[in-house]
Amino acid sequence: MSSDYISLTQPDDWHLHLRDEEALTTTVPHSARAFARAIVMPNLEPPVTTVAAALAYRDRILAAVPAGNNFQPLMTLYLTDSLKVEEIERAKSAEPIIAVKYYPAGVTTNSENGVSQIENVYPVLQRMEELELPLLIHGEVTDTDVDIFDREQQFIETVLRPLLQRFPQLKLVLEHITTSHAVDFVLQQANRVAATITVHHLLYNRNHLLAGGVRPHFFCLPVLKRSSHQQALIKAATGGNPKFFLGTDSAPHSRHNKENDCGCAGIYSAPSAIELYAEVFEAQGALEKLEGFASFYGADFYGLPRNQSQLKLSKSTWQPPKDFPFAEGVVVPIRANETVNWRIVEDAE
Ligand code: NCD
Ligand code: ZN
Ligand code: ZN
Repeated sequence: MSSDYISLTQPDDWHLHLRDEEALTTTVPHSARAFARAIVMPNLEPPVTTVAAALAYRDRILAAVPAGNNFQPLMTLYLTDSLKVEEIERAKSAEPIIAVKYYPAGVTTNSENGVSQIENVYPVLQRMEELELPLLIHGEVTDTDVDIFDREQQFIETVLRPLLQRFPQLKLVLEHITTSHAVDFVLQQANRVAATITVHHLLYNRNHLLAGGVRPHFFCLPVLKRSSHQQALIKAATGGNPKFFLGTDSAPHSRHNKENDCGCAGIYSAPSAIELYAEVFEAQGALEKLEGFASFYGADFYGLPRNQSQLKLSKSTWQPPKDFPFAEGVVVPIRANETVNWRIVEDAE
């Protein structure tokens, strides 16, 4: 494989926020440039809690896909204390719905309607286990007295381990992992437990967020951790283990909501995500491992066919713009006005 070009099976994004309405005209084309499919998170206002709402949302996304592009949104249901077992059964038989998202109530953006006590959803989890419908987890505790840097580790020990004991066959993805504890935990589990890793947790650590001034565009949840955790994530992502696969967690917020005295959590990475993952893998001398992580392991986990099409990247620099139109305002992308080292080669070139 030449180091100036790489060609890989077209990748998928297994964790994505597209938002809704006007925002879709910006977010959908950015993801569709690179990814064939994406799991779209259901944390809208109000959240996507029914099959009917998920299918209607999917139609709005499809309406924003550029002509000639085959981007396929894969949908999720938002788990609440009151989600019914019958809705889970409907979800299982609705093809574009492939998972259920678990937010502990209050943990992150638009999670107020999430699960308040895990016991409340045991009947639903039991049915999901029987139906082999995967549970996607934002894995942080919400207790305000737990240090924000420890919330993922606490969740693993106090919620996730007991949950897996109670539901030994439940298929589960620990989303956007940020610590060496999460890596070790996932490695210890059977193959029905996997994790997504974002590009920002591979590229950055908490110094980028806090040293020399607070940088709100590096604020996301789970929050960036210290460099040793970043190194553990890099090792996991580039190591060729199929339990770890690509999920950008690209999560746009308007500039005004980020640069605010109570700034929103979320990093908008879709405009350069696959290119930045290539940077990480290249820096590790592991470009040949990118295809497994980006294009194979997620599809295999979800029991979906691998993509047939190819994506070609060339090693040449470009700069994302300072912002993009977004709903009423603008959204600032990762690497705004800075250099990205890889570029997608368009078919026509
Ligand atoms: C996400 C969002 O903005 O929707 N924010 C984030 O910081 N990751 C929510 C989430 O994935 O937790
Ligand atoms: Zn999350
Ligand atoms: Zn997310």
